[in-house]
Amino acid sequence: MHGHSEIERAVEILRSGGLVAFATETVYGLGADATNPRAVGRVFAVKGRLASNPLIVHVADVSIARRYVTAWPESAELLSRSFWPGPLTMVLPKTEQIVPAVTAGLPAVAIRCPDHPVALELLQKFAGPVAAPSANRSNRVSPTTAEHVRRDLGDNVDLILDGGDCRVGIESTVIDLTSSRPAILRPGGISRQRLEQLLGPLESPAASQHPAPALSPGLQPVHYAPAAPAFRFGVSDLTRLQNLFRSQLGRSNVLLIIDGTELATQLRESPIPINSGAIIVMPASADDYARRLYAAFREADEQRPSAIWVQQPPHETSWDAVRDRIARATRPVLDAS
Ligand code: TXA
Ligand code: MG
Repeated sequence: MHGHSEIERAVEILRSGGLVAFATETVYGLGADATNPRAVGRVFAVKGRLASNPLIVHVADVSIARRYVTAWPESAELLSRSFWPGPLTMVLPKTEQIVPAVTAGLPAVAIRCPDHPVALELLQKFAGPVAAPSANRSNRVSPTTAEHVRRDLGDNVDLILDGGDCRVGIESTVIDLTSSRPAILRPGGISRQRLEQLLGPLESPAASQHPAPALSPGLQPVHYAPAAPAFRFGVSDLTRLQNLFRSQLGRSNVLLIIDGTELATQLRESPIPINSGAIIVMPASADDYARRLYAAFREADEQRPSAIWVQQPPHETSWDAVRDRIARATRPVLDAS
């Protein structure tokens, strides 16, 4: 898929402090040498990211990961054996080689081994730690194609390694292993259920004393959001929506609805007057929905609507990560006027 020379050029760029965007199985990352303060500084500048929001470090395998952490608990061993390469990020105490800016001054680093041939070849040839947040402008929708990266970051990236559409489509699960009680800091590509099968019951930020929002800014509301005002709604909001839309003159709305749900049927039977907007039909399985979500947000934004309305996914654990991203991208329909 990639000429060796292109990967080698990417490695050269990383070695000389440049930025390489690359495909992973979750979303595209904006990569820099995690041991080079100037390179890491450029990542924050290009993204417009707050210095208080730490970056994920990517490695080719467990042996490289272990060079950059000072502890490798049993939990890390179990998790890496089951889920690496894959969409699981582990937070562990870092060595001094990981520059402070990467972790926003925190003593622990978030580290993962991505499951994508392009990312893996890059990381193997670089043979070191690559700090890579999602390759989008801060607080905007993460990129799931090379074209998304080009549109968001353009010439601010030295090279983009195109690896096609991202298979998972939302970011990795982040798990904190720095205390004796592992806690999920961000739901993502690996479900809580699968983690608990290995580790037993896990803390969740809301249910624990963990100061998660400060430690993991990805948990703050309004993140990963479309440009247009976005609201989430459920079946019980249908009448409210209908009234709202009817009273709007010259406004346009885009609706994201889930295929095959009761709501989809109701919409068909009593169509909502969405004015000049559109309905985007989303997949009914959580995995397919996740793969499609960010591209759908971008498609919705491209219509420059007055607002985007997103149907709430089912309250089932398989939808946790998708529900989390929708909750961060939207406000409840009651806030709409
Ligand atoms: O799937 C992913 O994780 C993608 C791809 C590119 O690997 N990366 C990604 O990175 O989503 P980013 O920077 O957009 O999100 C990093 C998340 C944030 O929620 C951040 O707060 C958390 O990981 N994080 C990073 N370092 C941390 C640390 N040292 N302690 C706690 N949380 C950390
Ligand atoms: Mg991000």
